[in-house]
Parts: sequence; structure tokens; C-alpha cells
Amino acid sequence: MKLLASFEQFRLAPLSPGEGLGVRPARLAILLSGRGSNMLALLEATKTGVLHGLAEIVVVFSNKPDAFGLEAAAALGCPIASLPSLGRKREAFDAEAAALLQQYQPELVVLAGYMRILSPAFIQPFAGRIINIHPADTHQHQGLHAYEWAFDNQLPETKITVHLVDEGLDTGPILAQQIVDLRGADTLAEVERRGLAVEHEVYARTLADLINHGRHAERSEASLPQ
Ligand code: GRF
Repeated sequence: MKLLASFEQFRLAPLSPGEGLGVRPARLAILLSGRGSNMLALLEATKTGVLHGLAEIVVVFSNKPDAFGLEAAAALGCPIASLPSLGRKREAFDAEAAALLQQYQPELVVLAGYMRILSPAFIQPFAGRIINIHPADTHQHQGLHAYEWAFDNQLPETKITVHLVDEGLDTGPILAQQIVDLRGADTLAEVERRGLAVEHEVYARTLADLINHGRHAERSEASLPQ
């Protein structure tokens, strides 16, 4: 997995002054609109994998109350919340969603198939702390249907990208990338199977690295002479 320079600029803000990240798991809010396979992989990683002891999922949120991923999270004992976005104006919905999520005090807002472009009303309260995963190099492909794009163009590889979220569509600074070999994948289902297997691993690992990096930066800053 390749970690990019923007990683170095990342800072995890402590919840309140004096409460360092070194003593407790980072609080993650996971946002989804669909099946939730990345959410499940992250949940597993907090239980038995690379995020164990480093992160906890404080809420799984969806803009679609009937999203399969929400049901799956609830069945596994995760706190869930939802707010239907259908028919709502973007800014008003985003402000309400942000206020709802703030009640859970997340340090990182982790998008996992959350099918919305975020407006400033959502981004500002969590600025620099919203992360997304995209199934392609975001410099080459943005938006929906990245696996279809790779399959239709018979690409020999795709580059799973984890990035910070800004107000554009998949335009935020890249944190980490990993290549998936697509040679010989002769159906879209096979392209997706290979890609998702890598997504699940890369997302958990990048978050673990980010949290460790945040803790390290926090400790170094705390030890600087005042
Ligand atoms: C994934 O391919 C992710 O990269 C993209 O949306 C899809 C969500 O899949 N942003 P899932 O709901 O996590 O299974």
C-alpha cells in the first residue's frame, strides 16, 4: 500500500483538551447508503483486526433508512442512526445529518458507499476528518461506476484510493492507494470481487495508520517545550 504525502498533514483532534488519543480508541462514524461490505470489514477489524484497540464504531449512519448495511450493523450490535435524504434540499439535509452525527462525537467520519456529494454544511463541522474510499485512482475516475469503467475499458489494473473528502466529487487529498491486478478478470463480478477484497483490507489499514500517526503527532506536540 502506498501512503501519500497528504498523510503527513493529517491531525486527529483530541475530543477535549487534555484528553489524548493514546488512552482510548478513536471514535468512528461510518456512513453508508447500500450494502455495507466495507462497514462490515471495518467492524471486523475493530474486533479482531488491525483496528482492534485503536478504533471503535460509535455509529453507523445512513441517508437510506432501509439500507442493507444499516440492518447488518444493527444485527451485529452497532449503534445505528438514519435520516431520509429523499426529497430534501442538500444543505438542509447535510446540516441536520451533521448535527445528528455530532451527538456521537466522532473523531473520524468514514464514508463507506455513502452516495452523496457533501455540501459545506456537512464538511465544515468535520473538516479534515472525513475519509472516503474509491475503487479507482481519483485522478483518473470520479463518481459512480468505477468498476464498470475499469471492466468496460478492459483495464489491466485499478487503483483503490483512500482520500480525504472535500467539497468536490472525489477530489480530496489522497492518503493511500493500492493496485488491484485485473488481468484475466472476465466478468464485472470478478472485477468487483477482486477490488472489494482489496478495499476491505486497505481501508482498515489506512485508518489504523492514520490513527497511529495522529497519536504519534499528538505525543510529539505534547512533548515540545511550551
Ligand atoms: C465501494 O466500492 C466503495 O469503494 C464505493 O462504494 C462501494 C461501497 O460498497 N465508494 P459497500 O457498500 O461497502 O459494499
